[in-house]
Amino acid sequence: MQTVQQILEHNQIPSSLAETINTVLNASKDIAFLLQKGGMGDILGCAGQENVQGETQKKLDVISNDMLKDALKACPAVAGIASEEEDLPVAGNAGGEFLVIYDPLDGSSNIDINVTVGTIFSILPSNGGNPAEEATYLQKGRNQLAAGYVLYGPSTLLVMTTGQGVDIFTLDPDTKEFVLTQGQAQITPTTKEFAINMSNQRFWAEPMQNYVADMLQGEEGPLAKRYNMRWIAAMVAEVHRIINRGGIFMYPWDSREPNKPGKLRLMYEGNPMAMLVEQAGGLATNADIAIMDIQPELIHQRVPVVLGSKQEVEIALSYHK
Ligand code: AHG
Ligand code: MN
Ligand code: MN
Repeated sequence: MQTVQQILEHNQIPSSLAETINTVLNASKDIAFLLQKGGMGDILGCAGQENVQGETQKKLDVISNDMLKDALKACPAVAGIASEEEDLPVAGNAGGEFLVIYDPLDGSSNIDINVTVGTIFSILPSNGGNPAEEATYLQKGRNQLAAGYVLYGPSTLLVMTTGQGVDIFTLDPDTKEFVLTQGQAQITPTTKEFAINMSNQRFWAEPMQNYVADMLQGEEGPLAKRYNMRWIAAMVAEVHRIINRGGIFMYPWDSREPNKPGKLRLMYEGNPMAMLVEQAGGLATNADIAIMDIQPELIHQRVPVVLGSKQEVEIALSYHK
């Protein structure tokens, strides 16, 4: 079986970028090991502090952030990093070619109930910019050189793109290598499965209200399909389901915090997932334009997300026109 290193070589990925990706993967293996220790280590529960977005940090949010940060700062190819759990960007190495932006632990409310979580990463060129300055990082998702996630579930999986399709790797517990288990994954263009946090329904804008109401009407409604619904509360697991069997995932704008568009963050959730979804033949939008075409204004900026099977996302978009 082919390892991730062999695939990177086969795809002629420059060694400095491969080294950066490997640094993320090595840290993620350590995170997977720690997660498996669960209640045996002092790693569950809250850290007793909040991140820049006012969210209570779990101990594992902090630990996994530090593991990635320490590993990446020691990687010569990394100019700088930005993380969900860091208020400000962190400078790496002078002469480094890449910026690594990450969500160290996505779905962290799932940790304490032993349900799937993941690490999401996005790699951008540093273009010689000052890695201590936020402006250096504010590049459109289209600039991403690589994006992916590591899913800590029953198996530990890596789902990654370097712009040549989406490959899925499984962490072999014996050799500790990620080996290719599904090459060139494609998202089925149609679906009867949607994912949205229905408890926020009354806060959504009218087009989203109308679309979901029509889905709920099933065969008798205008969409003439009986839909099923899923909500795992971890974007990483929702996107993984969609890559495997199609679907539409939405975290739309809502009126709870009208000045913040939705809950998910553009630079370390929206953009990397959008690159994966587009590379697998799906669509990823903010209900208006492609997520990767949005010009970021802040590292921690939020974005409404409507992504998944191409034809279903087009239906969702038609309600917003
Ligand atoms: P994080 O754990 O990194 O803060 O992200 C959680 C996100 C996302 O993964 C998930 O889709 C969403 O929050 C769930 O939100 P609700 O709790 O509002 O359903
Ligand atoms: Mn997240
Ligand atoms: Mn997180």
